[in-house]
Amino acid sequence: MTKKLILDVDTGTDDAVAIMLAALHDDLELVGCTTVNGNTSVENCTENTLKVLDYIGMPKIPVHQGLTRPIARQDFPEPRKEGDQGSRIHGPKLPLPDTSLKAKSNNAVEYLIETFRNATDEIALVPVGPLSNIAAALALDPDFVKNVPEVVIMGGSHGWGNRTAAAEFNIWADPEAAAMVFGAGFRKVTMVPLDATYQAALCTAHADALEAHGTPAGKAAATFLKHRIASYDSIQPLPTKGYAPIHDALAVAALIAPEVIDTKFLHVDVETVGTLTVGRTVIDTQVRTEAFRRKPANCHVAFGANRDLFFSFLNSAFSPKA
Ligand code: RIB
Ligand code: CA
Repeated sequence: MTKKLILDVDTGTDDAVAIMLAALHDDLELVGCTTVNGNTSVENCTENTLKVLDYIGMPKIPVHQGLTRPIARQDFPEPRKEGDQGSRIHGPKLPLPDTSLKAKSNNAVEYLIETFRNATDEIALVPVGPLSNIAAALALDPDFVKNVPEVVIMGGSHGWGNRTAAAEFNIWADPEAAAMVFGAGFRKVTMVPLDATYQAALCTAHADALEAHGTPAGKAAATFLKHRIASYDSIQPLPTKGYAPIHDALAVAALIAPEVIDTKFLHVDVETVGTLTVGRTVIDTQVRTEAFRRKPANCHVAFGANRDLFFSFLNSAFSPKA
């Protein structure tokens, strides 16, 4: 039985691998993509998403463009500068052939609301960018939180950050939206933070193995991974150089087999005020929130990941189809 999902993306290089894994793995069915302002402008994210789907021969998967900015702040907490670290890891445009494909609409929020309202099968919602579209859907439709059976979020971190000392990019880019999503009361929320994605980081040997398949997805994934390794080595090296996380694809992999991540059921909230800590995911590992704020656990938080199992999903999905 394949698992259905909708990906909410700010396509970037790791979003691109997540899209290809969701579209090509035998155990998954990518129902559609919604795009959001994040790694680059939402227009670029949409164009990049369409290029990926066209390049891997999946032009019928619908793409709906979403929010151009955070739900509350006028822009990111600081203006995104071309050439900044995020741009260097992702770039405004992915190095793929141009496409004539167009977004089905510029109303991703309405698409999300209607699709989950009318779904006859369970569809997982997998946001791997800032949570602006998801928060807007919550604000627009009181039933949205009930209509979505499962949310798997790539975002957050425990005690450190990659955009500031305290915050991970997706949460930092729209902290009010993230606070709404974690506090909404979805039936099942899984959070795949940096603590897990870094444990599934891949190296050039993995890229070479994917490239050896000779498929569009294998070649593209290898290109993106090698670019990410070079970028990470130069701007935010992992403890072992020559490796880079493919954050968003691990969130998709968690739908293929939950055992690819190790999770704990804890309370998670988001800091939206602190000058130094805005965008921090506050993960209550000591279970203090329930004791003193009567707020129960609300999220399955991944603290570990199985790199080999994760890579096996990519390798299988990007190999030639029989
Ligand atoms: O912090 C990692 C996240 O930020 C990933 O989703 C990456 O694509 C960027 O959006
Ligand atoms: Ca992303």
